[in-house]
Amino acid sequence: MLRVLVVLVYMVTYGGTTGDRTPLGNSINAFALDLYNELLGCMNDSVNDSMVISPFSISTAFGMAYLGAAGDTATQIARVLKYPTNVHEQFEALLTNIAFSDENYKLNAANNVFPLTGLEIRPQYVSDVLQFYLAAIKELDFQKYPEESRQYINEWVSNKTMEKIPELLHRGDVNSGTVLVLVNAIYFKGDWLTQFNPNVTSIVDFYVSPLQRISVDMMHSQDIYRYIEDPVLDAQVLQLPYTGEEVSMIVILPKNQNGLPDLEASLTTSNLDEAIAKLYAPYSSILVDVHLP
Ligand SMILES: *[C@@H]1O[C@H](CO)[C@@H](O)[C@H](O)[C@H]1NC(C)=O
Ligand SMILES: *[C@@H]1O[C@H](CO)[C@@H](O)[C@H](O)[C@H]1NC(C)=O
Ligand SMILES: *[C@@H]1O[C@H](CO)[C@@H](O)[C@H](O)[C@H]1NC(C)=O
Ligand SMILES: *[C@@H]1O[C@H](CO)[C@@H](O)[C@H](O)[C@H]1NC(C)=O
Repeated sequence: MLRVLVVLVYMVTYGGTTGDRTPLGNSINAFALDLYNELLGCMNDSVNDSMVISPFSISTAFGMAYLGAAGDTATQIARVLKYPTNVHEQFEALLTNIAFSDENYKLNAANNVFPLTGLEIRPQYVSDVLQFYLAAIKELDFQKYPEESRQYINEWVSNKTMEKIPELLHRGDVNSGTVLVLVNAIYFKGDWLTQFNPNVTSIVDFYVSPLQRISVDMMHSQDIYRYIEDPVLDAQVLQLPYTGEEVSMIVILPKNQNGLPDLEASLTTSNLDEAIAKLYAPYSSILVDVHLP
């Protein structure tokens, strides 16, 4: 039997494998935790529901909005997204870094600004959004062709995500009153540094709520990983690197089968930062028996 309730997967924006982060990386992580907590409150059943979020994408899209915002709007965006000073320059550095192609994995992050045909945009905004967000600009006639415009944006997102997100905008999300759509698309595909041998994948029980279990394909690997047990989060924290060791997934697993709500309550930026710092400290690499659904 598996002593697992739910695996909480959390993606952290890193500069390399050292765990060093930029102010923008810190701000995206802090926003991610706020967002995660907000979304928990919107869930029907917080113990028996799943979510996948990309705070990076939201932060990037709002960065493009912030670039053109002023007054209260700008102040509020900066506060909620926790933007550091020079945020646009930092996005430029981050997006340029991501765009640098790497044979080990595929990470695409693309931005597009879709204004209504003929909408007058300040030339400074256009040149800034191209420079800082490596964005493309494409006018669409939302007024006359809202449905075709929606389909065009969906096709663009679908192309950028290798068809993983075929319909970002649903019917009605765009209408004849739409004047501007800002889109960020992100796609990642990498191979685990330590491959899971499919021969040892087995079907086992997995708890989706404290009482309810389902059968899942459980992968297995035994290797040297960065791994710690964190008493503050009462959780196991594991780094699963992808080939190239520039990108990794960090898995945080409550030690207690019913421990997810407690873990979520203790996931503050400082607790998370401390856990991650311990994970990246010397001597955290040990032989770990990994079971991953
Ligand atoms: C919550 O669950 C009910 C019953 O399954 C469903 O009808 C409703 O749409 C759900 N609400 C949300 C916000 O997902
Ligand atoms: C949890 O979700 C499963 C699958 O959607 C559903 O069959 C089950 O009734 C839910 N259990 C609880 C306790 O809500
Ligand atoms: C999507 O990709 C196809 C095939 O490369 C291309 O013909 C099409 O113009 C692309 N669409 C958009 C909206 O970028
Ligand atoms: C899996 O099993 C097959 C058949 O026994 C064997 O040929 C193959 O080498 C195994 N793969 C690995 C990665 O051990």
